[in-house]
Amino acid sequence: MRKKGMLFAALAVILSGLLTGCGGQSQTKADNVIQVGTNAEFPPFEFQEGNGEISGFDAELIHAIGKAVGMEVQITHMGFDAIFEGLSRDKVDVGVAAITITDDRKQTVDFTTPYFDAKQYILVPKNSNIKTLNELKGKKIGVQAATTGEAVVQGVFGKTYEGIKAYDETPSAINDLQIGRLDAVVVDSAVVVEFNKKLGEGKFNIVEDTSLPVEQYGMAVKKGNKDMLNKLNEGLKKVKENGEYDKIYQKYFGDHK
Ligand code: ARG
Repeated sequence: MRKKGMLFAALAVILSGLLTGCGGQSQTKADNVIQVGTNAEFPPFEFQEGNGEISGFDAELIHAIGKAVGMEVQITHMGFDAIFEGLSRDKVDVGVAAITITDDRKQTVDFTTPYFDAKQYILVPKNSNIKTLNELKGKKIGVQAATTGEAVVQGVFGKTYEGIKAYDETPSAINDLQIGRLDAVVVDSAVVVEFNKKLGEGKFNIVEDTSLPVEQYGMAVKKGNKDMLNKLNEGLKKVKENGEYDKIYQKYFGDHK
């Protein structure tokens, strides 16, 4: 009899676990948890530590923001495109992934106030002496798919330009540049600087094409999610005022941008 009772209790526990697991969003999205989607292959903004933990400028910033508004933060790694899909399907509340604020994206998401300035830089082997994107005509250029880097290259050479190679993750493009499969990689400025350091200074050149536009990063929420947007903006304001933002900035970028 006792045994049966225990078995029943155990079953009930398993069942309820299954149910809440499948019950999905309402359970995982507890009121005090911000579910964050990122593409953690974009150092120094987001990357995975050996133990799988996601860190970087964005990760620390969103954690600081969560703390400032009294909410927990849970960050999940996914493809860059999947972040936007996750937002539209309510799988994540916020996309924090060095996301550039663009008019195109504003059709489906709302952005917080900008939190970081960037632009596209061109990484080329040392022996290359190009000064503008235009001069890469006929060459192979690596970008991360669905990013502004891709848009900028398409803007200059056209969407069907054969030389553009779009990668799911930025490090794969950098890798192909390193082994000579690409002539250049176009990606966000601070990320180019970071990879250039890793590749060993002196092996590659960073080119800034002054005709390319300045970009600003924002955190993205599903269009119309005012509650979350207000919370994030409130938190962002707080961490800028209380010195947390500066501390994190200093840690990753020192004094210069
Ligand atoms: N800033 C660029 C964009 O918004 C690239 C962002 C890529 N971010 C990432 N975590 N992989 O399109």
